[in-house]
Amino acid sequence: MPSPTAPARPGIFAGLVAIVTGSESGIGRETARLLCEAGAAVVLNGRQPERLEHTRQVLAAAGHAVAACVADVTDYADCERLAATAITHFGRLDVLVTNASISQRAYFADMQPEVFARVLDSNVYGSVYPLMAALPHLRASRGSVTFISSISALNGMPSGSAYCAGKAAISNLAHTLRLELADTGLHFGVVHIGFTQNDPEKRVLDAAGQPVPIAHRPPRWQKSQAEVAAIIVRHIQKRKRRTVISFLGRIIVLVHNTLPRLGDWVVLTTIKRMRKFYE
Ligand SMILES: NC(=O)c1ccc[n+]([C@@H]2O[C@H](COP(=O)([O-])OP(=O)(O)OC[C@H]3O[C@@H](n4cnc5c(N)ncnc54)[C@H](OP(=O)(O)O)[C@@H]3O)[C@@H](O)[C@H]2O)c1
Repeated sequence: MPSPTAPARPGIFAGLVAIVTGSESGIGRETARLLCEAGAAVVLNGRQPERLEHTRQVLAAAGHAVAACVADVTDYADCERLAATAITHFGRLDVLVTNASISQRAYFADMQPEVFARVLDSNVYGSVYPLMAALPHLRASRGSVTFISSISALNGMPSGSAYCAGKAAISNLAHTLRLELADTGLHFGVVHIGFTQNDPEKRVLDAAGQPVPIAHRPPRWQKSQAEVAAIIVRHIQKRKRRTVISFLGRIIVLVHNTLPRLGDWVVLTTIKRMRKFYE
């Protein structure tokens, strides 16, 4: 049985304990790695036991303090186990990053209702339930909660209806919780991520709920997972309210806020010229 204390390692997160949901792969895995390198003990999470264990072993072999919990973050009982893993292994919880998410590649009119619900749930309840389960521990540590969102939460994106709606919902949730829990000392922040390199095996859902590869993204528009993870970790450290990643992301948000008709014109034009970007 591991000793229930956070190991003291040097770094800006020394002595702190983090949960990163959906950290068996992708941006979540890199964020977990950087938190570890900054001194935190990290609870890894995902739904695929073998892939999660592989990630745990790689980080443990690098000398990092990691535990793993197979849990579906859209299931509240699983989230209680996830929060308990941090306490059992490391004795406290300071940082929650709600990163797990399912995306889609499907136009609204074609989608099966249950597919819309699955994508929406993973982006809304997949953040709400881990937070509800972890909240007592985070209150005790006056900790930090970061919701991983997307640039597409700040404007619409064709073929991403349920995903965009879910990501927009958690931005508002963060604002509401910041106000409701203002006297707790908790940090609530949102990171809006733009196009990022993906693991080759990443899958999103089509209109019938089948896993399909992600749509084409020009490589020069993408940040690396390590770059994005570094920005997420800085966001947590500085307890920022909102971080919008990448110059392109900030331009997209600026155009949609100040010149919304121009923003729509650009999107509608690219749908015709770059179909594989969406479909
Ligand atoms: N990559 C981008 O270009 C981009 C852009 C904007 C925002 N983002 C956001 O960044 C975050 C990470 O994305 P990513 O590109 O790294 O995706 P990813 O590689 O697919 O990672 C997502 C992880 O979440 C896990 N997951 C999904 N549903 C889960 C559930 N219900 N319970 C537990 N784990 C679950 C996935 O595992 P399994 O499904 O295998 O269980 C996977 O390990 C997401 O919130 C995404 O929306 C990414």
